[in-house]
Amino acid sequence: MGKTKKPTADKAVEELSEDEARLELERLAAEIAQHDALYYRSDAPEISDAAYDALRLRNEAIESRFPGLIRQDSPSMRVGAAPSDGFGKVRHRVPMLSLGNAFSEDDVFDFVGRIRRFLGLGEDDPIALTAEPKIDGLSISLRYDKGRLVEAATRGDGAEGENVTSNVKTMQEIPARLSGVEVPGSIDIRGEIFMGHADFKKLNEAQAAAGQKVFANPRNAAAGSLRQLDSKITEKRPLRFFAYGWGEAKELPAATQSGVVAAFARWGMPTNPEMTVCQSAEELIAYYRALEGRRATLGYDIDGIVYKVDRLDLQARLGFVSRAPRWAIAHKFPAEQATTILRDIEIQVGRTGSLTPVAKLEPVTVGGVVVSNASLHNEDEIARKDVRVGDTVIVQRAGDVIPQIVSVVVEKRPKSAEPFKFPELCPACGSHAVREADEKSGKTDAVRRCTGGLICPAQRVERLKHFVSRTAFDIDGLGDKSIQGFYDDGLIQSPPDIFTLEKRDARSLKRLKDREGWGEQSARKLFASIDARRAVPLDRFIFGLGIRHVGETTAKVLARSYGDMATFKAAMIAAGASEASEAWADLNNIDGIGRTVAEALIEFFAEPHNVTVVDDLLAEVTPTPLEAVATQSPVAGKTVVFTGTLEKFSRSEAKATAERLGAKVAGSVSKKTDYVVAGADAGSKLTKARDLGVAVLTEDEWAQLISGG
Ligand code: IVH
Repeated sequence: MGKTKKPTADKAVEELSEDEARLELERLAAEIAQHDALYYRSDAPEISDAAYDALRLRNEAIESRFPGLIRQDSPSMRVGAAPSDGFGKVRHRVPMLSLGNAFSEDDVFDFVGRIRRFLGLGEDDPIALTAEPKIDGLSISLRYDKGRLVEAATRGDGAEGENVTSNVKTMQEIPARLSGVEVPGSIDIRGEIFMGHADFKKLNEAQAAAGQKVFANPRNAAAGSLRQLDSKITEKRPLRFFAYGWGEAKELPAATQSGVVAAFARWGMPTNPEMTVCQSAEELIAYYRALEGRRATLGYDIDGIVYKVDRLDLQARLGFVSRAPRWAIAHKFPAEQATTILRDIEIQVGRTGSLTPVAKLEPVTVGGVVVSNASLHNEDEIARKDVRVGDTVIVQRAGDVIPQIVSVVVEKRPKSAEPFKFPELCPACGSHAVREADEKSGKTDAVRRCTGGLICPAQRVERLKHFVSRTAFDIDGLGDKSIQGFYDDGLIQSPPDIFTLEKRDARSLKRLKDREGWGEQSARKLFASIDARRAVPLDRFIFGLGIRHVGETTAKVLARSYGDMATFKAAMIAAGASEASEAWADLNNIDGIGRTVAEALIEFFAEPHNVTVVDDLLAEVTPTPLEAVATQSPVAGKTVVFTGTLEKFSRSEAKATAERLGAKVAGSVSKKTDYVVAGADAGSKLTKARDLGVAVLTEDEWAQLISGG
């Protein structure tokens, strides 16, 4: 039990981390290529057709979960194509982001409510939003210079995609030249490439007749067709396109989302005829219901409806949170369900010691994807649903969320099925696993946690995996499998060991390059990518430490507030010394840091072992200050407090703007406050500002200050 020792080959697709998926795709590419060679060249297959198909299906399922990881030598790309040098990379001038999800009508009301509040609109003020189908295809960015298509790139990881220009140029639907008089100097037009149902069916029939690969769904067929290394094959595939957005644009042809898309259509771009403009959450929902009813007759796959604020000036004010716009959301269609048997309940130990039950299922297809694991959340959930090993269960997938067990079909329960007993010992280290009681409410935590902290291998390994992961230190070539290997061999026990690996390796009798699975070149590459992270942004450094309750956003807030690691560390230690300290008050005063986070931080720094890890790391790594959002702005580095009723902007908009300009927004006034912006009816904060002699600004004065006036 426990996921730490599990080879990725046995892991269900939904359970793979990105690093595991990358390794697994590499393994599958090699294995399938070997079987291809045996079959085609030697006429001597070693495995059954069914086993071969299973490998390909697994490859496809992983690719469809992680389209960004599709390899240039992927088996799905090798449908009779001559191997070439693969695709070059393209850095997106404006990142290609994703969308937040709404799963219920309430979520849609919340979304519209949030926008109204942010913009300071009243309940009855009109707010126009576009509604359009969310196409289940792959997004693409098309660069037009002086009206000519010059470059096409896949989304990739959002920052960098693959150059698929020559393939896109074969697509009939995408104009090589924009037509009309108002064609802009240069623009990235973005949209979705997809395959229609009828074309998909025809393609698969032809593929089957020719003894070629059959695609699992239209999305895979579209992705496989676009990412062909031989564009002559792409040319024969019936790919379609809808334009719905843009990246960098010198000028825009309209002031609204719907207006710009209408201009795209005039330029000869295919746009979705279903797109419409609504005036309220109720209208959005009516549109959603109507389209859901017609979903099967549209002729192409959609997985929900996308809503976007129509006015572009409002979009700009709303801006982005994390990697998604505040002004748009995807309202997903309900989850698809299936019935299967629960074979086992496995307990996995997470990075923070949480014991998570995972349902091991008889594989079943749910909404086009084979599911063999599902989340059971926690012990109470198992008890509430009375889920037992051997039960027939209903499984559901909702969008890209991990499959869940909805309920048990009690009538089908075998007589021998016993209620599940949740372990009280950690399956990874044998330490007691306990459920903490919340100090304030006295309520027992739903999660059982291993108390083995630093001795628990699952936690140490999971912490290391977190440390090197994409959103933390992002060390290329140091995936979950190598971390596990290095850990098992005692080479990497904690993060600083990563940075001393090369030095120790040079003195070691058993050199990395001589280890199984490694070579001179891969070892050199690994050391180079480790070296490349000897300077990392401070927020990634903080996030990488894996402090409880400190996610990416909180890490950014801390990095911005404290500026450098020495200041941050000293402040956390000082804050931990006494709740009467200035450091504790400052920490709690940071907007976005609540008591739970503050406590988790001081607990972390109160543990000497953690401080040693931080110090050892600092001997190897130099955290760089957060990319200042705007170091040149008049309020960069200043601390601002907003108080009273603001009339020009909502509180959250004021805060977002200030932060964008590099200011820190605090919740209360102190000596360190640079400006207090006081709206109507400002109370005690204004008085305090006056007492302390802090500059007090009206809303207008603030607006003037930030505009540099
Ligand atoms: S708008 C800032 N509109 O959904 C993001 N996306 O979950 C703007 N998608 O990566 C995206 N249909 O590939 C937008 N009508 C539509 C869409 C759509 C499909 C995809 C797109 C995006 C993903 C986000």
